[in-house]
Amino acid sequence: MKANELFDLTGHVVVVTGAASGIGLATSQVVTANGARVVMIDVDGDRLVGAANSVRPAGAGVDTVVVDVRQGGQVAAAIDDCVAKYGRLDCVFANAGISGGPGFGKLDGALEAASLELWNNCLRINLDGAFHTMQAAAKHMKPRRSGSIVVTSSVAALRASAAPSYGYHAAKAGIAQVVRVAALELGPHNVRVNAIAPGPFKTNIGNGRMHTAEGAALFASTVPLGRLAELDEIKGLALLLASPASSYMTGAIIPVDGGTQA
Ligand SMILES: NC(=O)c1ccc[n+]([C@@H]2O[C@H](COP(=O)([O-])OP(=O)(O)OC[C@H]3O[C@@H](n4cnc5c(N)ncnc54)[C@H](O)[C@@H]3O)[C@@H](O)[C@H]2O)c1
Repeated sequence: MKANELFDLTGHVVVVTGAASGIGLATSQVVTANGARVVMIDVDGDRLVGAANSVRPAGAGVDTVVVDVRQGGQVAAAIDDCVAKYGRLDCVFANAGISGGPGFGKLDGALEAASLELWNNCLRINLDGAFHTMQAAAKHMKPRRSGSIVVTSSVAALRASAAPSYGYHAAKAGIAQVVRVAALELGPHNVRVNAIAPGPFKTNIGNGRMHTAEGAALFASTVPLGRLAELDEIKGLALLLASPASSYMTGAIIPVDGGTQA
């Protein structure tokens, strides 16, 4: 089988949350470049317009919907509207997320300093928001007996480090376990559920911390490849999980991390 058959998304409808920036934008770019229509969802309406314009020339249609993933009703309405409009939903990337605090770079004192407000908001976006997205997608995928749900977890789900916050570790580990449970439940319905666990990528997360020399050095020091990832480096795995090439993969938490798990 040729690569273009394995990874072809012609006619597919893909929803991406957190699509206005970073990993969600790169994901939107790669799925449209391979034939899919994408519905780009984000809370930041201004940035979403610019992001959609950068995706449009690459491929098929692009829709945008302003949604706060903390609000389950908004997520469900956006996904219901997508299915009503296009009659199918092939893949959802539950990707929207925040850092949940500055991270510390050293652990001593981090527990006492952790803000409960930041902890709660991090769990509401990174855990509840992804869960709302999974629920809304499964409702449509189950009866159709087809679909791929992809959650953006993190290497922070797989091992502890001083770089991200306590809330971030908790949310990303929590959603990874939700992915495994949902894979068990939805497998018999031929709906696959997997998570991507990125290492440090050069995105706008944490108020652009990854773009500062200090932030980049802190995160790069945790990576055997010795550098942060470029946005293009998420595209291979995102396309794999959206495409027929991953038809026997479910319940997996897959690192793209420059070797941090080694
Ligand atoms: N960048 C990294 O190093 C890294 C590593 C591991 C995991 N991740 C995860 O990748 C995902 C994408 O983050 P990114 O690094 O591309 O950051 P980013 O800040 O560049 O993009 C995140 C997007 O999510 C959106 N968003 C935030 N809160 C939202 C909400 N309540 N509702 C809807 N949209 C919301 C933002 O507006 C933004 O467009 C997140 O889940 C993040 O935790 C990132």
